[in-house]
Amino acid sequence: MTSHITQKYDLDTPALLIDLNKLRSNIQAMADYYKTVKPRLRPHMKTHKMPIISHLQVEAGAIGVTCQKLEEAEIFVQAGLPNILVSNQIANPQKIRRFISLSKWAQVTVGVDDLDVAHQISEAAHSAGVVARLAVEISMVRCGLKAGKPALEFVQHLDKLQNIHFMGIWEHEAGGSPNFDLGTTVSWEKRKQAHLAGLEEVLDTKHLIEKCGIPVEIFSAGHTVTYDITPHFPEVTDVQAGSYVFMDWPYKQLEHFDQFQEALTVLTTIISIPRHQGNMAYTDCGIKSISSEHTANYTNIVYPKIKGELGKEIEVVNLSEEHSHLRGTVERLKVGGKLEFIPPHCCTTTARYDKAYVLDGEDVVAIWPVLARGAHT
Ligand SMILES: Cc1ncc(COP(=O)(O)O)c(C=O)c1O
Repeated sequence: MTSHITQKYDLDTPALLIDLNKLRSNIQAMADYYKTVKPRLRPHMKTHKMPIISHLQVEAGAIGVTCQKLEEAEIFVQAGLPNILVSNQIANPQKIRRFISLSKWAQVTVGVDDLDVAHQISEAAHSAGVVARLAVEISMVRCGLKAGKPALEFVQHLDKLQNIHFMGIWEHEAGGSPNFDLGTTVSWEKRKQAHLAGLEEVLDTKHLIEKCGIPVEIFSAGHTVTYDITPHFPEVTDVQAGSYVFMDWPYKQLEHFDQFQEALTVLTTIISIPRHQGNMAYTDCGIKSISSEHTANYTNIVYPKIKGELGKEIEVVNLSEEHSHLRGTVERLKVGGKLEFIPPHCCTTTARYDKAYVLDGEDVVAIWPVLARGAHT
């Protein structure tokens, strides 16, 4: 009997591919590590935007999910995921209304760093008869409140508002600065020193708040490049690592990532090898289909890598909207042939697709919708 299972190379391109075994192995490797430390994992869903992957992470031991957008939280709540922290600020009446209705039936915590907004949330929660869960970001690289007295005073104010439950604090990229990028620092020791030092003022702020009699249930911190550093800092409750599930190739160059594998690729077809250009070839995957930056610094151009041995001989040297430009031993390629690209940044690649083909070896064993694609509000 002939097999009806679709094979990877039968797919039309560009196509987003997930290697199921590598994905499972990454989830397990991280879960195994978190069995050895006290803080728990609250993986960020921004990397995959697929509830099914968050379910796999929770089954492996994660306490819940971190989202970046309220709309992502709405989708993930509907998909049955528990204990969601939106590591971002909400600020307009539309979102306040949606957050209050979500709070009627789900445990969702959102960030706020403005007192007017906090008052509006409190009033809306009071009229709806619900308790709104709020957290405060201690400012490192973007929004949030300055550590120490400014954060303390803000939290004291929050604590007096009706129908508000202050859940705690979070930070992102403690120890990083314009001169020191955690995401590209190969040395684990250097990342460790910077990150642990950066967390000190966050812990001091936690203590200031607690000294005033306000409990801090959540001290959420860290991300993929500090996954085995953040949990060793005192009193951290959970770590927000996201990218480890798929593993951006630049992260894989850093120390302590040997056990994680690049699980996400984009299948692409070679559409032209213009002989008069010598060593150039072109495929059907441009920046509309794959990222060309890395989270560490969005203004640097970082190209995808070609998976496998060919990647040693041929490199991506440019991406236009619908084309990738390859340079190298292109005589080894054939027009109509297919290649796999490993994205430099999986979060911004996944977000370009409606679905991912899930592979067991060469077999397509599932198609997973990227359910939170376009959930930007
Ligand atoms: C607030 C916050 N937490 C966690 C993460 C996850 O980072 P990573 O994917 O590097 O683990 C991000 C990523 O941008 C973030 O913005």
